[in-house]
Amino acid sequence: MALPTLRIGKYEIQYPIIQGGMGVGISWENLAGNVSKNGCLGVVSSVGTGYRYPNYVKLKDGRPVGSKYIHNKEALTRIIKDAKEIAGGEKAVIGVNILCAITDYDRVVRDSIEAGANIIISGAGLPLRLPEYAEGSDVALVPIVSSARALRVICKHWKKKYNRLPDAVVLEGPLSGGHQGIPYEDCFKPEYQLENLLPEVLKERDMWGDFPVIVAGGIWSKEDIEWYISQGAAGVQMGTRFVGTYECDASMEFKKVIINAKKEDIVLLKSPVGYPARGIVTKLIKDIENGTAPEVKCISNCVVPCNHGEEAKKVGYCIADRLGDAYLGKVETGLFFSGSNGYRIKRLVHVKDLIRELVEGIPSGQEIPQEVDLVKT
Ligand SMILES: Cc1cc2nc3c(=O)[nH]c(=O)nc-3n(C[C@H](O)[C@H](O)[C@H](O)COP(=O)(O)O)c2cc1C
Repeated sequence: MALPTLRIGKYEIQYPIIQGGMGVGISWENLAGNVSKNGCLGVVSSVGTGYRYPNYVKLKDGRPVGSKYIHNKEALTRIIKDAKEIAGGEKAVIGVNILCAITDYDRVVRDSIEAGANIIISGAGLPLRLPEYAEGSDVALVPIVSSARALRVICKHWKKKYNRLPDAVVLEGPLSGGHQGIPYEDCFKPEYQLENLLPEVLKERDMWGDFPVIVAGGIWSKEDIEWYISQGAAGVQMGTRFVGTYECDASMEFKKVIINAKKEDIVLLKSPVGYPARGIVTKLIKDIENGTAPEVKCISNCVVPCNHGEEAKKVGYCIADRLGDAYLGKVETGLFFSGSNGYRIKRLVHVKDLIRELVEGIPSGQEIPQEVDLVKT
């Protein structure tokens, strides 16, 4: 089947695939720009942008100092503008992912809009005040939810307070990479698996309007996409597969960690954000267990729920520093997020070939031609 287009607000995306925003350096201008250039929606992460342009920001021990510099306006502006440039210029459509939990959330929403974001995608908490922060702009607003209940709370609040509804919603299941929206135990319950959440979320959506429901978490192939579309989803959001591309902004060390990961290495980890996060068991995780992980200094003050390093001390690591190290290619001290499918990535491909595979499928018996570069060591 030919995949349908995806409409989000006034934007029509050629293929119903969103590349999920991936924080601290995994989806910046190169990945997002190339994804949009090839007919899907590329999404820049607004988190930790100070790492992209250290010369724009104030540093201490190599870390951006405080929320102004870790989630930096000048760096984000340049990333968004460059993503658009790569995607084809001013008219290109680029999304920005903003975690509700970050410090200065409202300011980062405004920074994104000022820099030309077309679509804001926002989760890790309920983006209840997002319409207020986006007031006066025509940016499309897309919350990420993990349940029908969360969608109901958002729609009820947005309708009552701002007389508006989401332009689309991303429903994320617990196989996804990075932070989850539900407690650890729930991630294993059948009722919280993506395929079981979708019917309830569609029913909830129908109570409010006809905005698209986009599913995320564990989606790998064209068959997966077609199946979810046959179940009523309007499209998919995918993260992990895009990490396995040459264009992904992550360091080569990050890509090697994911390529070398085994199925059992990808687990749910504790995070100072207060939700479990799916990532890869590396030396850091063992050091955290043994109490020998790098000291928590809270230089960047990156997320509100961490309470200036208090939660970080409890879980044994600073999330900004550890994700920052993964971006910098420091394998020993980096934190490497991955969806449950990460172990299936065997080599890097180009974004255009990955998208071709996802929209055309692989003809049986042969693989789509692609430049192969085995980075496995
Ligand atoms: C390395 C990595 C970092 C991520 N960072 C974020 C983030 O900063 N904000 C967010 O909303 N989602 C984040 N995600 C989730 C993705 O946007 C996407 O929804 C998810 O990866 C989909 O599941 P999949 O990886 O199985 O395709 C991240 C995922 C990965 C793999």
